[in-house]
Amino acid sequence: MYRDTNVTLLNLALSLSDALDLCSPSLFQRQIRSAFVAWELGRAANLPPEPLKNLFIAALFHDVGALSPDEKVALYKGEAANLDDHCLRGERLLQTVPLFEPCAKIVRYHHRRWSDWSEPIENQLVLQSQILSLADTLERFIDRDHYILHQHDELTSRVSSLTDGQIHPLVIDLLKYVGRREDFWLDITSPRLYSLLLHSAPCRGIEVELGQLIIISEFVRNLIDFRSKFTVTHSAGVSSAASMIASLFGLTELETEAMTVAGNLHDLGKVAIPNSILEKKTKLTHEEFAVIRQHTYVTYMVLSSIGGIQQIAEWAALHHERLDGSGYPFHLTSKKIGIGSRIVAVADVFTALAEDRPYRRAMNKNDTMSELKGLGNKRLLDINIIELLEANYEQIHLLTSEAQEKAMNTYLQIY
Ligand SMILES: [Fe+2]
Ligand SMILES: [Fe+2]
Ligand SMILES: [Fe+2]
Repeated sequence: MYRDTNVTLLNLALSLSDALDLCSPSLFQRQIRSAFVAWELGRAANLPPEPLKNLFIAALFHDVGALSPDEKVALYKGEAANLDDHCLRGERLLQTVPLFEPCAKIVRYHHRRWSDWSEPIENQLVLQSQILSLADTLERFIDRDHYILHQHDELTSRVSSLTDGQIHPLVIDLLKYVGRREDFWLDITSPRLYSLLLHSAPCRGIEVELGQLIIISEFVRNLIDFRSKFTVTHSAGVSSAASMIASLFGLTELETEAMTVAGNLHDLGKVAIPNSILEKKTKLTHEEFAVIRQHTYVTYMVLSSIGGIQQIAEWAALHHERLDGSGYPFHLTSKKIGIGSRIVAVADVFTALAEDRPYRRAMNKNDTMSELKGLGNKRLLDINIIELLEANYEQIHLLTSEAQEKAMNTYLQIY
């Protein structure tokens, strides 16, 4: 029996921010580190609790608008040709989640130079955006190969030299103020920063209800799927098909809603996979397939670390397990693969077959069903679920197509 979710906003936001920076080792915890700096500066500026919380969350997601790992790395190295695109996309993406709406404008302006504002620094949005700008810049300047207390003076003077229009002198003064403390610098680079924030950062104690979790899972799904034109609508399709099958199978309303989240997040681990592999037109090599195989492991690790959604984590992450034990990454056999995971596995294959891929065109009903039944007869996927899908094919196909069309429209609005 599925029990209601029990998720806190802080835990969820930290885990997702952490996951989004898994796409390159050079970006490890980059947004979490920026959020810590922004939080410290915001406290030094005496920001009230609500604007401080919004600044912190904005910093955790400030580069979500960067589409590919390459774009994120270019931003990190200061080599991006255009700084506006990812700010605009980030704003639009955050606006899709009511809980993140107050953070959207901060992200929109996190690269705006101080000299381009017409409002004074006392304006709350100006101050928040300027603090995030400094936090982002400082994090980029840190040499990850050198001990932080051997570089903090130089970091402060490098950032201080940006008063020529990029960052307001008052915000630089905030850094000089908090930068007197060694613990500030040691915390930024601490491997334990994640757990430190988990116990002390803003928005502790704010619970996320299942309805809000569904909306956040759509936001995350878009970050994953919009990376490649071949996957723009994939997880929207899986989510819709899986929840529909769950309902037809007789799962409760609560379980069906949780299934929507699991479908949206099943490929979350693809954040760690380069576009060159995701979009490859020819057959993957053994080495490339080994890279693909980590995605369900990452989905499992990220969702499990959020806490309070263990059932969803299992439904989402076991979609490449096969009943005979030949799947990955856990090689579970039928006894250990529950009905929810079996449903997501069938929904995933069903959706993938009905989509264009870099190496083949979308399949029609007959080909899709014969492919699925082949997998069912070989005891790889659950044949009962496949037969349920076949009996309701038109209805499921229609609803899935509608959900995918909606996802495509969101993509066109944002990118
Ligand atoms: Fe940025
Ligand atoms: Fe997958
Ligand atoms: Fe998938």
